Amino acid sequence: MKQIESLNKHIVIYPIYDNQPVDSWLCDALGYDVNDIIDKDYAKMTQIHTLGKYPFPYIIFVGLGKEEKLTTAKLRDVAMKVSKDLDKPTQLVVDHLDKTISRQTLVRVWMESHIIAQYKERKIGHDEKDIMDMDVMSVHPVQKEIDEAIIYGTGINYARKLADTPSNLMTPEDMVKEAIEMAKQNGLECTILDKAKLEDMKAGGILSVNLGSHIPAYMICFKHNGDKDAPYKAVIGKGITFDSGGYNLKGNSYGMKYDMCGGADVYGIMQILAQSQAKTNVYGIIPVTENLVNGQAYKPQDVITTLSGKTVEIVSTDAEGRLILCDAITYAQQLGAKKLIDLATLTGACVAALGDVYTGVFCNDEEYYQEFDKAMKASDEKGWRLPLDQAYLDKLQSKSADLKNSMGKPGAGASIAANFLESFVEEGTKWIHLDIAGTADQNGTGATGAMIRSVVELMK
Ligand code: BES
Ligand code: MN
Ligand code: ZN
Repeated sequence: MKQIESLNKHIVIYPIYDNQPVDSWLCDALGYDVNDIIDKDYAKMTQIHTLGKYPFPYIIFVGLGKEEKLTTAKLRDVAMKVSKDLDKPTQLVVDHLDKTISRQTLVRVWMESHIIAQYKERKIGHDEKDIMDMDVMSVHPVQKEIDEAIIYGTGINYARKLADTPSNLMTPEDMVKEAIEMAKQNGLECTILDKAKLEDMKAGGILSVNLGSHIPAYMICFKHNGDKDAPYKAVIGKGITFDSGGYNLKGNSYGMKYDMCGGADVYGIMQILAQSQAKTNVYGIIPVTENLVNGQAYKPQDVITTLSGKTVEIVSTDAEGRLILCDAITYAQQLGAKKLIDLATLTGACVAALGDVYTGVFCNDEEYYQEFDKAMKASDEKGWRLPLDQAYLDKLQSKSADLKNSMGKPGAGASIAANFLESFVEEGTKWIHLDIAGTADQNGTGATGAMIRSVVELMK
């Protein structure tokens, strides 16, 4: 994927606004006016064979519709539509496209969308599918935009690949191996807190969830140092490699290999920050374990002591995400981070409320929320703010511990979970929680990498 200065023999992709004529040099060689037959309405595609008049076999004209109506979000959609099923190398023609959306922005957005659209879940036992090559034909400088699109697109696909890998092939051990390898490749620091270390620290949240699994738990910690000794922020991701529910066994746990999507997103985010040499200091923290059942597994009404020292009465072993996350939140604060954001496939309630369209967003600080809102808009990602309120936390009062991990009955599940997490956030720490249960995978059929772009934007 690179900038080229003259056309080659690959298929030409030619996006065009509705009020724009096709460049005359194209029509001239074809010997007729293609303007008469191509549909320039938004997202309409017209394929024209060049019948030997050009070295490339055909041109795909892609309608962009009205210039004033096109947004980068719509541009992403149309680019994805074009690239989804491309099975041959292409070249994108852009020199006629410096409008309200600049040529640079168009290239940046189109190329990233191409890479994301080309990703396919790998069939185990078969080779990974390559991303089809797409060059950009331009006499203006666009290589920087292409390079950035490659970093983001590959980072997002990397996270999707980790999440799509089945839980028997992406165990906590595999997550650790992957973390060490990725850190090495990208010049990130990586510290692995193993089970013995977690026991020393008394991280009882993650250790309790881990009791039912024969594979030990880990806390994986990446460190990106791009801004000398400036303060560190932290990105935290839920890393449950499989969620059976524990003794509160799920009736249907299909899709629960995706319960580490938040963690996988952190790998992608850290890789993008490293490769783009972002001038910022960020910890990436992923608590990882399976949530399974055996003779040692934690049980309803057990009382556990989390890393923070707070005790928790287990009402449901299926509310495990918040137990590993509260320890990660405490750990991030022990490291000195004062601005946190977590990504977690946390609640079915969030799926019920927002589906696979909006991510649930919670924040304890107005200014920090505004910052993130801007980041989401700049990234064309959708999040909807949901409430934190003491009244929700009140519902988690317990007779046997400082708090319960679940109310034990339905009602505002996403907010209850968020309030549970907030009670581990100390005075003076700004915190955002992203409930990606609905947006991280399309109903258990494929990881999306949702919110990676927005979180990177926030960190930059
Ligand atoms: N991983 C699930 C949440 C989830 C559900 C993600 C559906 C994606 C799709 C989480 O660990 C969970 O089981 N949450 C429970 C919490 C309840 C027991 C308080 C839920 O939402 O039902
Ligand atoms: Mn669960
Ligand atoms: Zn879970």
